[in-house]
Amino acid sequence: MDVTTILKKYPKRRDSVIEILHEIQNHDPQNYLSEESLKKVATHINLPLAQIYGIVGYYSMLSLNPRKKFVIQVCKSPICGMLGSQSIYDAVKVKISARPDSANLFTIEKVECLGQCNQSPCMMINKEIYGNLTPQKIESIIEEIVISEQNAQK
Ligand code: FES
Repeated sequence: MDVTTILKKYPKRRDSVIEILHEIQNHDPQNYLSEESLKKVATHINLPLAQIYGIVGYYSMLSLNPRKKFVIQVCKSPICGMLGSQSIYDAVKVKISARPDSANLFTIEKVECLGQCNQSPCMMINKEIYGNLTPQKIESIIEEIVISEQNAQK
């Protein structure tokens, strides 16, 4: 669905902005918000473009950069940090680089608190939370996604 079609679904109200941005990003093949899309949103709800950029910058779920199909967001906030989020991030990078066939599937990001501190350290892949992580668990989580994608392409 293109941006114009998405915008037609929403009233020209500012309180719809988050929903609109999420939907546009979810329909973008590169999983991000382009400047062109943001301009259309700004016009639709009559909000200055700079404010739209501010909103996108505030929410870690929204991105101004093209991303791959699976966005791995590793929490870097204090509780996860104290419980080893850097080792989780490193394990993700190692696992992905060990599977060259998976390089085009994943974007890895460090983000602020995912609101799941009781499961620290944790990460989110697209909308799914993975908690109480260890570097060993990363191996099977990534492997499962890669195999599932390979099977889907057969
Ligand atoms: S500090 Fe990581 S989820 Fe809250």
